[in-house]
Amino acid sequence: MVQIAVFGYGTVGSGVVEVIETNQKEIARKAGDGIHVKYVLDIRDFQGDPIQERIVHDVEVILADPEIKVICETMGGIEPAYTFTKKALMNGKSVCTSNKELVAAHGAELMRIAGEHQCSYLFEASVGGGIPIIRTMNDALTAEKIDRIEGILNGTTNYILTKMERDGAAFDIILKEAQELGYAERNPAADIEGHDACRKIAILSSILYGHNVDYRQIYTEGITKITPKDFVYAKAIDCKIKLIGLSVITKEGEFAMVSPRLVPADSPIAGVNDVFNGIQLHSNMLDTSLYYGRGAGKLPTASAVVGDVVECVKKIGGSIPAAWDETEKKLTDNGAFRQQYLVRIKGMPDAMQQKAEAAFGGIQIVQIPEAADEFAVLTGEMSEQEYRDAAEKIPEIIGMIRR
Ligand code: NDP
Ligand code: HSE
Repeated sequence: MVQIAVFGYGTVGSGVVEVIETNQKEIARKAGDGIHVKYVLDIRDFQGDPIQERIVHDVEVILADPEIKVICETMGGIEPAYTFTKKALMNGKSVCTSNKELVAAHGAELMRIAGEHQCSYLFEASVGGGIPIIRTMNDALTAEKIDRIEGILNGTTNYILTKMERDGAAFDIILKEAQELGYAERNPAADIEGHDACRKIAILSSILYGHNVDYRQIYTEGITKITPKDFVYAKAIDCKIKLIGLSVITKEGEFAMVSPRLVPADSPIAGVNDVFNGIQLHSNMLDTSLYYGRGAGKLPTASAVVGDVVECVKKIGGSIPAAWDETEKKLTDNGAFRQQYLVRIKGMPDAMQQKAEAAFGGIQIVQIPEAADEFAVLTGEMSEQEYRDAAEKIPEIIGMIRR
């Protein structure tokens, strides 16, 4: 029997215990040995919970126990998760985490430390919840040259956008619902401002390049400016609005960004709704492939953590190679990235069209009955810098969504 510990008995941590207990036999067969949760580290006592007997408050008890071979870090945040993880790895204990904030900030260093101490640092649950996207990129698509990653990477915002569009529900009420369902981050600004998706696309980009893509260089825009009218405009041009993490290699350079985007209504990614995530990869041999599943929530996320535990148990005494190294990968400034823009403008086309054409070049006018004092234009393909320069000439712009 392999003894493990869980750091943080919250949504994901309690799910880890539940997955291990529910699927004990399956897990033992696949790991080659049974897995038992010996300790759970948390601040609280959980009186009356069956886990109560195994709760410890002092991390040193776990770190000093030679029986513990694997730790699931499901506390979240940078500190003390970073310090605890480092100490565990230095003691030869593998760590499996759902903590994308920590992976994006220190993943390369933690993987190196794991390699130096014959253990592993795995983070399947850090991107796409229960979708095995990390293992797919690391293990399955090793014969491929990937040049495009396009993903709905945040369950909370996809849940909000889906409900806003489908039911016309109010932003704050749906966000509260997502929090109650255990989807949102402790500070939900990380979801709605796009920071969570930014960390996830940084992780996938780091795997893509084999070097560290610093999440701080990725342009990030969340969904807080999206209004009900935007969905009507999107529909008028046969599109849906999704918060997309994008990482692409084009002839202009290597780009990554997070922003709401218009996706064709008949594209597979447009059909990814509610808390589900969808990640579409393009690679040179396989062509396009899509990975879909629950992007947040207790059991789907915990299942991914436990899947990593099984991998570590199969490799006890050895190390699973690092997915990327500590060399910094500099991306191209997104000013050179080319795409279309749907721009909402105050006023009517008869008064404003010439001005818009002078600034943006060829445009398609989009009008909706719901908006009497404004219209939108869909531009041709232009770079972010060209768009910014053009937009400066039109103070009447109300908003813009990329396509
Ligand atoms: P929760 O807040 O539900 O759980 C975290 C737990 O860790 C809480 O019980 C918390 O206690 C405990 N904790 C915090 N600090 C300490 C500490 N210093 N020592 C011991 N225990 C501590 O978070 P989630 O389970 O939702 O998320 C955990 C991680 O997984 C985060 O990184 C999150 O981003 C990630 N994640 C979450 C998903 C989800 O669907 N929820 C999906 C994918 C990833 P207390 O509550 O008392 O502070
Ligand atoms: N808050 C995150 C989300 C959790 O909603 O996607 C999963 O990483």
